[in-house]
Amino acid sequence: MTGRVAGKVAIITGGASGLGAESARRLAKEGACVVLTDLAADAGQTLADEIAGAGGRARFMAHDVTDEAAWARVVAGTRDAFGRIDVLVNNAGIGEGEPFLESTLAGWRKVLGVNLDGVYLGMRAVAPEMAATGGGSIINISSILGLVGFPGATAYCAAKGGVRLLTKATALELAPLGIRVNSVHPGFIETPMVANSLLASENGNEMKEMLISRHALGRLGVPREIGDGVVFLASDESSFMTGSELVIDGGYTAA
Ligand SMILES: NC(=O)c1ccc[n+]([C@@H]2O[C@H](COP(=O)([O-])OP(=O)(O)OC[C@H]3O[C@@H](n4cnc5c(N)ncnc54)[C@H](O)[C@@H]3O)[C@@H](O)[C@H]2O)c1
Repeated sequence: MTGRVAGKVAIITGGASGLGAESARRLAKEGACVVLTDLAADAGQTLADEIAGAGGRARFMAHDVTDEAAWARVVAGTRDAFGRIDVLVNNAGIGEGEPFLESTLAGWRKVLGVNLDGVYLGMRAVAPEMAATGGGSIINISSILGLVGFPGATAYCAAKGGVRLLTKATALELAPLGIRVNSVHPGFIETPMVANSLLASENGNEMKEMLISRHALGRLGVPREIGDGVVFLASDESSFMTGSELVIDGGYTAA
């Protein structure tokens, strides 16, 4: 088998859509066996079939990242299917937000539950498996909104900022076990999450223009540009990187 991640076994959460789907396609193309997990079973199974049809090795598992017992099933199912776990991409997330003064504890907990608790539970479930086989690479999808603030996104920013430092702290603890842990910080990328937020906004077109203008490269990103970063962090090309933040944002945070 050839490819930049040939023979590695990767779990990708939120793998049915957007950045997770493209990361799964690219990891499979580079030789990894991929396990896609998502709440969206039909789309997830369709993508696993697409990858298998193109000659890759893929499985789909229905999964809610906030459910600790479901994580145990995903770990066992991956072990049964492919024998080991080398890569975990904690990608599942929700982009819901509300103005701070109208926000509720329930809304806060929902966003923190998926975007931060889900990452903790994933690492907690998978790291022992990786340690048992000599190590691996954990890739936590944060955001530029884990580095800088954005109005109307207080819970999202808190969760993504939490992912950034959760990544660094676990990187220090897991390094002796051979496990690298890094975060990825995408700018605004053309995915269903961003398209749906723009559609839901009263002034979606103006909002899109405003977002574009904040990226020095003068456009939003496309999922391939994040998928390529994920393949790099999953591969041995990044063997001296841990606890680091890979910012892929068209210059958004350079200003
Ligand atoms: N698109 C962007 O501009 C952007 C920028 C920065 C960071 N991100 C982050 O990248 C990740 C992927 O975003 P996307 O744009 O591809 O979004 P998306 O909405 O296209 O895909 C997210 C996927 O996560 C799944 N999901 C949601 N809640 C889940 C849960 N509890 N358990 C399992 N799966 C669940 C959804 O069903 C969906 O398939 C998210 O963590 C997001 O916060 C996205």
